[in-house]
This record gives sequence, structure tokens and C-alpha cells, in this order.
Amino acid sequence: MDYGLKSRIASILKPNNGRGVMLAVDHGYFLGPTEKLEVPKRTIAPIVRYCDSLMVTRGVVRSSVDPNFPVPIVLRVSGGSSIIGEDLSNEEITTSIKDAIRINATAVTMSIFVGAKYEHKSLVSLGHLVNEAEEYGLPVLAVTAVGKELAKRDARYLSLSCRIAAEFGAHMVKTYYCDDFQKVVNSCPVPIIVAGGPKLPERDALALTYNSIKAGAAGVDMGRNIWQSQYPVAMIRAVRAIVHSNYNLDQAYKLFQQLAKGQPEQQSRGNFNQNRNQNRPQGNRPNQQRPNQSKPNSQRPNQGKPQQGQRPQNRPQGKPQQKGQRPQQRPQQKQQNRPNQKPQNQNKPQNKPQQKPQPKPAQTPKPSPQAATPAPAEQKTQ
Ligand code: 5RP
Repeated sequence: MDYGLKSRIASILKPNNGRGVMLAVDHGYFLGPTEKLEVPKRTIAPIVRYCDSLMVTRGVVRSSVDPNFPVPIVLRVSGGSSIIGEDLSNEEITTSIKDAIRINATAVTMSIFVGAKYEHKSLVSLGHLVNEAEEYGLPVLAVTAVGKELAKRDARYLSLSCRIAAEFGAHMVKTYYCDDFQKVVNSCPVPIIVAGGPKLPERDALALTYNSIKAGAAGVDMGRNIWQSQYPVAMIRAVRAIVHSNYNLDQAYKLFQQLAKGQPEQQSRGNFNQNRNQNRPQGNRPNQQRPNQSKPNSQRPNQGKPQQGQRPQNRPQGKPQQKGQRPQQRPQQKQQNRPNQKPQNQNKPQNKPQQKPQPKPAQTPKPSPQAATPAPAEQKTQ
């Protein structure tokens, strides 16, 4: 693989563990002003520092992302249908590679619609996009979209879609989590990144993250489950702790609750016994719940926070959360700075992966539209 392609992928999926947290804010390209993404700049600013890359359209990147604090951009280059139109699968490439390069995109992304009316068009577009992007060393992330047909999200269908995307030359594939997700991962020869889907209760969204990573996903590309949360900073940091610091579900949810309440974080380390990523320097650590109040920040592993040198400068709304400080909230959220969920019982059985060589997945509800609390239009979308 060429240096350019490789190094761009490395800024999306970190080479120390092959994982990444992508923040999805591209929804407006077919949904318009989705709930909590009405003013993209306000949604993006407080949380962008906690992601490794940002999935976005050219319109929003130019209008709403600060070029003085660059973040790797995964640029959506497909579109052409809207939520009120006839068929969401009727997409084409709408943004040129030249413009992607002008924007300084790190990768380009488009949706494919396997089995849909416009399957052929989207797959041929993927082939063309890979041809063109590879000329400039730009990786392509293929999104296995399902349009309004959410029920399609099972292992058989997603394995088919992901594998086709990889066969067409996509360098990374984004898909949905499902039962038997390992089958999807195992039959796809390129890294898989999991979409969050419609809004779930926070613990369920963290379970989805945890189970995806445990099954071998390289990361998440999460949108609504982060920025439609009442506590988007707490949520993205908890997601990050699972992806990069091997937190288990209980640890991540506890971190979410602490950050949402503005409490100092308890230090804890996660553990995955099942992980196909071989190059993680951390290895399988014992699953410790450490009070660890004395160790200075600089000596700790990355626990849901960007490390030094990882775009720490990106501070559009003041400093990052410090111990003892309240979490950053957008002004309109300050009034509601209380978690709406009861503390969880920390002794739940799934909080013992270190005692089980093959831990069962944490209970993840199927990301169904019924479980969601999205804007009305979104209830019928991917
Ligand atoms: C839309 C997309 C979105 O980026 C994707 O669905 C991820 O966002 P969310 O976590 O909200 O589902 O690709 O086609």
C-alpha cells in the first residue's frame, strides 16, 4: 500500500490499536436539520476534540468546522435523495475528488444500497470512486446503507453488503451492528466501522459499542447516539474509553455517569479477552477498578481523553473537562445538567469479563426505531 493511502488510514484508525472513533455529522445531506444537528457548528464544537475523524459533507465542513484546528475529515461525496423523496437508494457521486483534496479530506465516503432499486448505480459509483480516489492516495469508506428498510440489518444481509464493498475496493466499510456480528467481521477483509443508528438510551449505545469492538470492529462512526444525548461530551468520552482504553460496558457507563454529573472520573481499565486486533500495546490487562486518585494525568493511559499531541488545541468552547469541573454543555443544556438515569448496579454479571475467557456480549437491544427517540423523520431511516 502506498505511503499516502496508508498514512491517511492511520489517522482514522490509530496504528497502535487499529481502532478509531469517527464522529458522524453528515445526516443533513438527506435528513435536513435533524434534531440536535440544527446548527452543525454548535453540535460539532464541544465534541470534535474527542473524535479521531469527522464524517461530514463539504457544505458543513466549510461552514461549521474550524480549519485552524484540523481534524481528519471523512468527506461524504454521495447524495441525491432526501427523506421525503421516493427512494433513498437513488444516489450518485456529488462531490469531486478535486474538491475533496481542496478541502484536505483524509478519506472519502459514499453509501451503497445492496439489494435496493438503485443497487447497480451505487455499486458502479463505488468502483469509480475507488479508481479515482486511489490515484490520489485517498482511502474510501463504503457505507452499507439500508435506507428506510431498517429490518434488513441482519448478519446475512450485512455480510453480503460489507463483502461486496470490500470486493469493489473500499478500504474501510461502515455497517450496522447485528446479532452474530462476528460473521460480518470475519467475512469482510477490510476494517469494519459500526454506525450508531437511531438514538438509544446511553447504556444501550455503549453496549452496542462494546459488543462491536469485542466482535472485532475497528471502531464506531457514531452520530445521533452522541449528539442527541443530553450529555454529548460524556457520551463521546465513554465511547472513546471503550474503543481506545478497553473499558467494559459497566466501566464505560460509569464514566458516562460521572462525566454527566460533573464528578471527577474514577480510574478504571477495561479488558477484552476476545479481540482480533493484534497490535495493541496494552494487551489483555487485568480488569481493575482502581480508585487511582494520586496518579498524575500525564502518567495514565488514555482514558477517554485525547492524548497529548492529539489535537489538544481544539477548544472552541473553553477548556476540556478537568477533574472536579462540570462537563461542557451547550448553553441551552446547562439547566439540565443532571443524568436522567439511575446509577447502575455495578455488580451485574456482565461486569466480569476477566473471569470468563469467552464473555457473552453485553445485552444490546437491536437498534430498532422503536427504541429510539429521534426526530419524527428519522424514525424511518438508517
Ligand atoms: C448516514 C450515515 C451516518 O453517518 C450514519 O448513519 C452514522 O450516524 P448514526 O450513528 O447517527 O447512525 O452514514 O447515511
